[in-house]
Amino acid sequence: MTADDIDNLLHEARRFPPPADFSQNAVATAELYEKARSEGGPEFWAGQARDLLHWHKPFTTALDWSNPPFAKWFDDGELNVAYNCLDRHVLAGNGDRVAIHWEGEPGDSKSFTYAELTAEVKKAANLLTALGVEQGDRVAIYLPLIPEAVIAMLAVARLGAVHSVIFGGFSAESIRSRVDDAGAKLVITADGGYRKGKSFPLKPAVDKALEPDADGGTSTVSTVLVVKRTGGDVDWHDGRDLWWDEEIAQVDAEHEAKPFPAENPLFILYTSGTTGKPKGILHSSGGYLTQASFTHKTVFDLKPEEDVYWSTADVGWITGHSYVVYGPLANGATEVIYEGTPDTPHPGRWWEIVEKYKVSILYAAPTAIRTFMKLGRQIPQEFDLSSLRLLGSVGEPINPEAWVWYRDVIGAGTTPIVDTWWQTETGAIMISALPGVTTLKPGSAQVAIPGIAVDVVDERLRSAGPDQGGLLVITQPWPSMLRGIWGDPERFIETYWSKFGPTTYFAGDGARFDKDGDIWLLGRVDDVMNVSGHRLSTAEIESSLVSHPMVAEAAVVGASDETTGQAVVAFVITRASQADAAGADDAAAVLRAHVAAQIGAIARPRQVFIVSELPKTRSGKIMRRLLRDVAEGREIGDTTTLADTQVMTIISQTMR
Ligand code: WT7
Repeated sequence: MTADDIDNLLHEARRFPPPADFSQNAVATAELYEKARSEGGPEFWAGQARDLLHWHKPFTTALDWSNPPFAKWFDDGELNVAYNCLDRHVLAGNGDRVAIHWEGEPGDSKSFTYAELTAEVKKAANLLTALGVEQGDRVAIYLPLIPEAVIAMLAVARLGAVHSVIFGGFSAESIRSRVDDAGAKLVITADGGYRKGKSFPLKPAVDKALEPDADGGTSTVSTVLVVKRTGGDVDWHDGRDLWWDEEIAQVDAEHEAKPFPAENPLFILYTSGTTGKPKGILHSSGGYLTQASFTHKTVFDLKPEEDVYWSTADVGWITGHSYVVYGPLANGATEVIYEGTPDTPHPGRWWEIVEKYKVSILYAAPTAIRTFMKLGRQIPQEFDLSSLRLLGSVGEPINPEAWVWYRDVIGAGTTPIVDTWWQTETGAIMISALPGVTTLKPGSAQVAIPGIAVDVVDERLRSAGPDQGGLLVITQPWPSMLRGIWGDPERFIETYWSKFGPTTYFAGDGARFDKDGDIWLLGRVDDVMNVSGHRLSTAEIESSLVSHPMVAEAAVVGASDETTGQAVVAFVITRASQADAAGADDAAAVLRAHVAAQIGAIARPRQVFIVSELPKTRSGKIMRRLLRDVAEGREIGDTTTLADTQVMTIISQTMR
């Protein structure tokens, strides 16, 4: 965000009170805040956990915070996460309700009722058991957004095992490091998937990831289950690879869900941090499911009998875990999932899907909204969007112009918009309006949800006054909080709990309260970028760049971008001998491709500038702030702390 943006936000004066009929029928009322305040966090959440979930064995204590930052929620209770998302809805007589309307990119589609989805998950659980998967084992899932992705996640959860979903856009290298870090036993993948009107292969990346490494070390993976999606050719490793459909056809359809402790690990999800190595964020069962279910119901005002809910996220991200799989299915919702890209085969595809399934609640990222805005309102206006009654936004700040366009053009000028702030680490929504209660302000994520305590503080943990920027912290434990970084408790403490001590979670975001107590997010304060709502680490991309023989040194910044929020811009010093031969343009192209191949296409730099120097302080720290000025075409800021004050002039000249 630039200073101008912040200034605009300070002057945003539009207000949208909830429509009267919406408030009258709303799931969440203002009393919920009062209830949470009077009961206190742990008691409030214990009530929600009892109301929202089925416990095989009820818990007696809500929270154990005796060893911060390691929290235990509902510790002596036992439940089965998949049972809560499936069986209990069938047993309650809702087996015929559609759980998932799945839409494939090429136009194929399939719907699953709760009874059908339960049956599929039972079979998959039996298959995984036959393949040796037991409580606590890690299973990696590398799939396109097809029903089997949801089925696989729930089958793993049903066995008390731990899934690690790896986004289908990630490279073999990224799969390898994630599979190795988690020590996964089994990988579930597909031959390929569909994107942008074409099929793309997935299995070759898994094959490559599981090859012995340079030192001859072999992978922990003994089995690869392969879903047939595209029918494309695949290499086959006898004794390791199995076709999902052939195996599923042979297993028993009956499976009893066994209870597991509330703190049984549910999943690991890798996310970028400030160092080169992604962190395996660990979530557990009872607290996570409680908050995912509670927020999905109250923030999205879910009426499971009437609503058709659609989150456009992929299951490779936390939004896909909490608001495609666990929250909606725990709540017995009917939801849409769509495999492909928004513009395939035509730019109105999303709106066609909304019309086809009569979607009433839509949850999407600002970057998508801004893309549609650019294409123009005539595209959505060709479709009947009158079923929509609530819109959500997630992943990055939504600028007021995009917010108002979203409401006017997609929401017929009437639907509330909930701008939801949270993180992979928080597991579920932390800051958001409640749509039947809150008067909305475009651009503000507004207030902590009931039961959650946040503050904006200075470096010494003193609350910042209204309109004063500061650091966003969470001051009380919450049920869906991360339980750790897989295999690295020290890094967990260091990253989130060292700045202000072990009971104050530091989120990494800048924020401010306005005079009404509404929160405005101001972007990351660390070296983490946000590109199209996805988190990328400057350090990770820098280390990828320097791994190329052509590169001597690299610095990466997130420059603001009209569509994607931020874009990756790299400044690279090449080794003279290597790069001169290639020429600057070619070198840049090679390096962009190198990063895409090493990490994944989302990390591909928008620009790579070959420079002769990088701006550094006297202690040798790269001054990214100055590079960001250059990348955003701004006047270069204060350079007095540079070791060599000429550097920026030289860099700006090379770029012209
Ligand atoms: C970071 C977390 C939450 C699921 C998707 C991203 C930014 C997220 C908002 C929002 C402003 C937001 C923050 C946060 N962020 N939602 N509504 N307004 N910023 O999850 O990859 O873990 O990234 O995304 O900077 O720290 P993630």
